[in-house]
Amino acid sequence: MNESVFKEELFEEKKVFITGGATGMGLGFARSFLEHGADVFIASRNAERLELASEKLKELTGKSILWKVMDVREISSVDEVVNFMEKEWGSMDILVNNAAGNFFCPIEDLSENGWRAVVDIVLDGTFRVSKKCFPLLKENGGSIVNIIANYAWNAAPYVGHSGAAKAGVLNLTRTLALEWAKHDIRVNAMCPGVVLTEGVRDNLLGDESIVNRLENSIPMGGIASVEQMAQQVLYLCSPAAEVITGEVLVADGGQSLVGNMFYELGKQIYKE
Ligand code: COA
Repeated sequence: MNESVFKEELFEEKKVFITGGATGMGLGFARSFLEHGADVFIASRNAERLELASEKLKELTGKSILWKVMDVREISSVDEVVNFMEKEWGSMDILVNNAAGNFFCPIEDLSENGWRAVVDIVLDGTFRVSKKCFPLLKENGGSIVNIIANYAWNAAPYVGHSGAAKAGVLNLTRTLALEWAKHDIRVNAMCPGVVLTEGVRDNLLGDESIVNRLENSIPMGGIASVEQMAQQVLYLCSPAAEVITGEVLVADGGQSLVGNMFYELGKQIYKE
């Protein structure tokens, strides 16, 4: 088991749905919930990765999960998967809207499709999945955690599509927190900084000067681990956070207080 400050049985009998759960942070969240007793269902676009994730989670935790291919951009796909889940589970306790898409590109070079792909996954996808899961979540009351980014508040240079979408998710988080409080559904956001996922390692950390810049931009503890981010999500879903809704847990080691990392990073990547 990963090192955890939470009781092993904290999420026993809880049913947890994680979008984008086959890789990166989503996979880490799945593992942590399993290790704390939950039943876990993951969905993403790629069957092969889902199958691998399921095998890996079984190996690491001894537990089986449910998984289905789902594209958050397609309402029919979301409907099909959540309908299946309803048959299997009847209700849901926790939804983690983690599915995302992103790439570095200045707005002047970004195509209509490029913009739409990211906004459709991040913002529209969060709306679609949350709305579809609402009847399941309100059965017993529940908790939603939306994964955002620390460029959601100010500028998001070179990731403007993602920044606009994450800002929308932040606003939606607060709106849903108010609208669904009467159903005992808490809606919060978790905001990571730089996290050591496979994607970040492969795409960003090959260049030593970028690693140094990133590490220097994080006052507390350097680049975070997936396990550290999972602990934040577990906290937001735990009874300890039962009075917290419409809030954002910024878990970026103070990076966003220092400056806008994406401005420097984007300039370096684009050699401007
Ligand atoms: N730079 C500029 N444009 C890009 C791009 C890049 N690096 N990557 C994708 N695009 C554009 C494509 O050119 C296309 O636009 P076009 O039709 O005008 O050419 C549009 O975005 C859609 O791309 P496509 O690859 O067809 O869509 P997709 O649905 O398969 O994937 C993403 C979209 C965002 C998920 C994909 O770019 C991706 O896999 N990104 C990296 C993985 C990732 O995002 N992980 C999550 C990190 S938070």
